[in-house]
Amino acid sequence: MAEHRFPPGFLFGVSTAAHQIEGANTNSNWWAIEHHPSSHVAEPSGDAADSFHRWGEDLDLVAELGFNAYRFSIEWARIEPAPGELSYAALAHYRAMIDGALERGIEPVVTLHHFTEPRWVTDAGSWADAESVDRFVGYVERAVGILDGVRYVATINEPNILGVMARVMHLGSGGDDPDRDRDIPTAPLPAPHLASEVNVIAAHHSARDAIKAARPDLQVGWTVASQVISAVPGGEDTAAAFADLVEDRYLRESTGDDWVGVQSYTRNVFGPDGFIRDDPEDTRTLTGWEYWPTAVGEALRHTAGIVGDVPMIVTENGIATDDDERRIAYTDGALSSVRAALDDGLDVRGYLHWSLLDNYEWGSYTPTFGLVAVDRETFRRTVKPSARWLGGIGRGIPSA
Ligand code: GCO
Repeated sequence: MAEHRFPPGFLFGVSTAAHQIEGANTNSNWWAIEHHPSSHVAEPSGDAADSFHRWGEDLDLVAELGFNAYRFSIEWARIEPAPGELSYAALAHYRAMIDGALERGIEPVVTLHHFTEPRWVTDAGSWADAESVDRFVGYVERAVGILDGVRYVATINEPNILGVMARVMHLGSGGDDPDRDRDIPTAPLPAPHLASEVNVIAAHHSARDAIKAARPDLQVGWTVASQVISAVPGGEDTAAAFADLVEDRYLRESTGDDWVGVQSYTRNVFGPDGFIRDDPEDTRTLTGWEYWPTAVGEALRHTAGIVGDVPMIVTENGIATDDDERRIAYTDGALSSVRAALDDGLDVRGYLHWSLLDNYEWGSYTPTFGLVAVDRETFRRTVKPSARWLGGIGRGIPSA
């Protein structure tokens, strides 16, 4: 195992998202999707890890394990349950979480939108509706009031995957499909829904401006899914076209931001016949992704090539596995690739592992990404060896 050293003040922590850990997020569009009669999801989120109530215990774990940062999201569906109607209790809840992190010496990294939205937003047309930009900014303007003491805020998580999800939803609704011509044959993802993409990008820029107007000191960015799209000879053009479609165009929108989040798990390789689905060594993880520990380092280099000198934070990287030694081996390789990027002069400010807890992986609890296991009935947390190993590395990082 490599010895991992990171610079003073390097953010070293864990990532989560509200819908995946809080439980009973009943006013969100995902809850509706999970319970729709024709739902494609294997199981509903239910109580998740009950972190809505157990967030203090979770923050204790983050601190005790040795981490200095915790990324979590605040839930729009709880804060604005009906148009323009605020829940002051929900705002107070998230304010208490921020205080709880600061009191424990943990840097809170706050995501304002992590895939879910209130049902009323979906009913009004979700991101395809031009008013979605103002709806989101209205929520953000309220939320910014609870962010005192926070340094890093992310507007929207994985806008590129959000665009793909919007397309999938749109296809399910049976409407016409003007994006069909943008699809890349054989690619592992359909093209994002263009009408939604335009609004998601506008929402990011408008939200960023609104946050900076209220709190000029807040460092604002968004977090982009990096697919590590690469090629063997003959696949270069398709790989470049796919990268532009699902990733690079979003990264180009980051160039005026304070930072950009890099989220990476695996790679996607194209050859002369398109996307290569085979994994010859059959090393797939529980999400069916190729085991590729250096993905995050490759993602940092690709991102830097587009965003230039915008600082980067790894906001997600991890592995779905029920073999905790494999989690350690994967993360060991991942951290070496981050260190190599730092050594080559890339401006990497932090590494936040996905995820603190085994959680709801958008349709199923089977892919376990957690450093900490959660009993589905008692919600008892059990720390895995990987958590102690990774936290130990965090403990070795001097404060700035
Ligand atoms: C995403 C989300 C997370 C996922 C994680 C593992 O990247 O899709 O941010 O919510 O759970 O990436 O798939």
